Amino acid sequence: MATRRILEKGRDELLRKRSRPVEKFDKRLWTLLDDMADTMYDADGAGLAAVQVGVLKRCVVIDVGEGLIELINPEIVESEGEMINAEGCLSVPGRRGTVKRPERVSVKAFDREGKPIELKGEGYLSIAISHELDHLDGILYTDKMIEDVTEELREDAAQ
Ligand code: NI
Repeated sequence: MATRRILEKGRDELLRKRSRPVEKFDKRLWTLLDDMADTMYDADGAGLAAVQVGVLKRCVVIDVGEGLIELINPEIVESEGEMINAEGCLSVPGRRGTVKRPERVSVKAFDREGKPIELKGEGYLSIAISHELDHLDGILYTDKMIEDVTEELREDAAQ
């Protein structure tokens, strides 16, 4: 297991590419997933898509404090409600902005063995799933941002 370099907006155009479906659930994929989790935890992130470490494969790792989730070839099959929250991205370091996301999502995906799985996410997990799945289509949260709140958060932290 190892950490990998995280690509950054404005520097790495790969972030704008559409990722391709995973076809082989092999050791190479497992190494990628292990490295992605290491990289996410090392950077104190709540989620990471493969493209963020330079690999155009449709897989993401997420941990919103409830344990590690790995999603391969994920698809949102249902979404409900909407909410606006501030979020950040490891590829847009030091910044935060508000984005409108669904309150609840249902996802179909595969696990690392290639077994189909289903997952429901609410609240913070719903945000993380929506945010990470956007990465697979080259979309960054800044594309959907309602308001940049980087400065407001800095002021809050200073008080
Ligand atoms: Ni991100």
